[in-house]
Amino acid sequence: KTVSIVGVPFSGGQPRGGVEEGPLRLVEFGLLNQIQEMGWKVDYEGNNNISSLRPNQDPDVLNLKQPKYVSNVTHAVAKQIEERARQNKFVLTLGGDHSVALATVTGVFSVYPNACLIWVDAHADINTPATTDSGNIHGCPVSFLTGIAGSHPDFAWVKPLLKTNRLVYIGLRDVDAAEKKILRDYKIKAFSMHHVDRYGIGNIVEMALDHVNPKRDLPIHLTFDVDALDPSVAPSTGTPVRGGLTFREGHYICEALAETGLLVAADIMEVNPALESEMEVFQTIQVGCSLARCCLGESLL
Ligand code: ARG
Ligand code: MN
Ligand code: MN
Ligand code: MN
Repeated sequence: KTVSIVGVPFSGGQPRGGVEEGPLRLVEFGLLNQIQEMGWKVDYEGNNNISSLRPNQDPDVLNLKQPKYVSNVTHAVAKQIEERARQNKFVLTLGGDHSVALATVTGVFSVYPNACLIWVDAHADINTPATTDSGNIHGCPVSFLTGIAGSHPDFAWVKPLLKTNRLVYIGLRDVDAAEKKILRDYKIKAFSMHHVDRYGIGNIVEMALDHVNPKRDLPIHLTFDVDALDPSVAPSTGTPVRGGLTFREGHYICEALAETGLLVAADIMEVNPALESEMEVFQTIQVGCSLARCCLGESLL
């Protein structure tokens, strides 16, 4: 078994610097060795060329900020991820802001068209160019991946590979009004923190899989925004929201998905080592690494 670790040092989907340092910091913490010690063969590609994909001119287009930069980077990384998935490797992507899901989902679903996507996040990231208040593309990837966004000149390459009934959210607690309407209109399954409180995380993961993967026979892609965790657990992230998943709840999701034997790709996104104190950065990097290891089967007895 081989895992291809794809670092995407990119922050262009949102305004706060530092999230581009996430991948390297996770690797410097020892993630590659940790995963090797679990018995995996590890490839690592750091994407050190990302700034070369920045265009000279990148004005807002249909409300979106830096559309050409985000498009160039995510398009290139999508091809890289598709290639790795096609080689039958588990793809572990380290972000970078969550606009990079345009790349991970496109790459993974090109190879596994019947896959399902588990989106763990405080946010739904399903704004369209028409609904986004911030213009930050990390708040929009799901609308492009599902085709809900409609056409945008810079993202014509993003195909609607993700069917809305193959998508489920866990951890939501800061969803914009227009996003709530989209979730309702398209009947997209979403488990908010309210549901996690009510049912417990064990039931939530079962219910999520019952929805997107009822026979437990489809490949699974997990995209994990560390802001799904409570800020006391993962403080160094750009858009923290109180009332999030506990340390164990976050890890449980990764462990339970690994346990299905169906997980083919995982993303650890939005670790920003430039935010908060040194201690809090350390804590966030450490939790990012342990989530990644759990996705690869650590702590299953
Ligand atoms: N809904 C807000 C927006 O559209 C926040 C999105 C936060 N996304 C994230 N990947 N952290 O800007
Ligand atoms: Mn988020
Ligand atoms: Mn908001
Ligand atoms: Mn997100």
